[in-house]
Amino acid sequence: MVKTRLTSVEDVPETGSWLFTVRQHGGDEEYILVRCDDERGPVRAFRNVCTHEPERLDRGVGNGAAMRDGEIICPRHGSSFDTCSGYCDNGDARETTLPSIDVEVQGGDVYLVDDSATFRHAGPKEDEDDDGMPSSTSHLGF
Ligand code: FES
Repeated sequence: MVKTRLTSVEDVPETGSWLFTVRQHGGDEEYILVRCDDERGPVRAFRNVCTHEPERLDRGVGNGAAMRDGEIICPRHGSSFDTCSGYCDNGDARETTLPSIDVEVQGGDVYLVDDSATFRHAGPKEDEDDDGMPSSTSHLGF
């Protein structure tokens, strides 16, 4: 198993997310690291797309995804997802779960440890397709 360092736990905002891009299933996919304090570790990595419609949760600005009470809030219709499980129990995305990839924390650093995904770079994916997502040139904060 390949283990790639993503960032430090400190760099993952308490309220917000740390955006990164991986190569998965032959294409580039965005994921976000979010804080989750439970026995399985302090962070999780979820796919940066709402399960209802293809809306990005972290639009690559400021501290990333909107959060409230330990939940990631979808900016389009307001469904919120648990930062530990990725599960949504409300709104349009009700009874769905954000896909996740495996990360591990060691000595204050976060590592990608998922065989399905290869780390590409921090930040949004480069605009190489026409899936409606904005070009990376519109993102601030990197
Ligand atoms: S697109 Fe996220 S709740 Fe509709």
